Amino acid sequence: MKILVVGNGGREHAIIKSLKKSKNVREIYAIAGNGGIADDAKIVEGIAVTDIQAIADWAKQNKIDFAVVAPDDPLVLGAVDLLTEYKIPCFGPNKAAAEIEGSKIFAKNLMKKYGIPTAEYQTFSRLDRALKYLETAPIPTVIKADGLALGKGVIIAQTREEAIQAVTSMMKDKVFGKSGSKIVIEEFLTGPEVSVLSFTDGETLIPMVSSMDHKRARDNDEGLNTGGMGTVAPNPYYTEEVAKECMEKIFLPTMDAMNKEGRTFKGCLYFGLMLTPNGPKVIEYNCRFGDPETQVVLPLLKSDLLEIMVAVARGDLKYTKVEFLKKSACCVIMASNGYPEKYEKGYEITFKCKKDNVFVAGAKKDGDKLLTNGGRVLGVTAVAGNLNKAIKKAYKKVKKISFENAYYRKDIGQKALKAYGEK
Ligand code: AMP
Ligand code: GLY
Repeated sequence: MKILVVGNGGREHAIIKSLKKSKNVREIYAIAGNGGIADDAKIVEGIAVTDIQAIADWAKQNKIDFAVVAPDDPLVLGAVDLLTEYKIPCFGPNKAAAEIEGSKIFAKNLMKKYGIPTAEYQTFSRLDRALKYLETAPIPTVIKADGLALGKGVIIAQTREEAIQAVTSMMKDKVFGKSGSKIVIEEFLTGPEVSVLSFTDGETLIPMVSSMDHKRARDNDEGLNTGGMGTVAPNPYYTEEVAKECMEKIFLPTMDAMNKEGRTFKGCLYFGLMLTPNGPKVIEYNCRFGDPETQVVLPLLKSDLLEIMVAVARGDLKYTKVEFLKKSACCVIMASNGYPEKYEKGYEITFKCKKDNVFVAGAKKDGDKLLTNGGRVLGVTAVAGNLNKAIKKAYKKVKKISFENAYYRKDIGQKALKAYGEK
């Protein structure tokens, strides 16, 4: 089959490397790809991932057999609806279903309506009302822009002043543009966080192996929030008992709720969970694979990814095998020093190791050379029999890759190891 993957980050590289193992894949094309993805797929030049009309036109002209739309923006814009109209089977939710990530207010109201556990909240479309509410709101409090905001639309305010500033910057100063014209203010929850990605066709939902993200820039979860500095899978806090509870109270009710709303979700539904003292609660939904969760989850997938994706699109997931290795994975993100603020690009990346399970996020080709071209540059993943070994193996590999100004956290997986120790 001739496959198209839409997206240009480390997540897409992991999807492409996994699809390459599928027996029915003949060719893979990437829009827009990156310099590392170019080693594993043919790059389609000149089309942006948000230009859904150009994507659908290109896919039709080039007789693509199956498309995978990975990032949130084209999904929320309706890429899958357009591809479907052009009779190209694809993996990903349509526009109506992608709203579960596209609007936080939609997601919160859905959970409330169907009794799915989440933080208590209020929604606001007027600045004066939001500010009035903040006068008596419990602190800390969490402020969220309604729409997509490049993963930056969530602010945890530790003081009332910070909360007022966050609300004002979103609603008055429009730092996130239209995405912040409506907001959610919600209860601050505590507890370990777990990411669970799932495959669903609207009838069957199969959770993938759980994972743990490391969002802060510096060791010991200090520094600024980032797009993710590393991941491990499975997540030790996600015990069989917790998994059962999540399936019953969160995953299946969410799938059913979307069906009842006439927004059947087909694709990868991502559950960002917090295991609070009052049970697991949803922190966020994503309508797609997580980044960098995918970089640890897919290397552990034993089954054929294309087969699963095709089954999701057709609606016969219940007949399909989805199995994961009983092993552990660790992904260390190598970033440009200064990320997520100011950083330099254009440095040559050299490898003294094999590139399997090295996922390129921000790099471009310059002849035979690979140059850094983003904040997060590489995701370096290792798989091993247990977490301790996977961590050691990942860092060993990181030491064999170099570029000027490289920065990475030294403690990816340590919190998870400690959690195993405590059990
Ligand atoms: P982001 O990836 O920017 O959406 O950041 C979301 C992060 O904010 C989550 O991973 C949590 O760590 C944190 N967060 C979101 N909502 C809450 C909440 N209600 N209580 C506590 N932390 C939250
Ligand atoms: N790792 C969280 C996300 O992909 O949004």
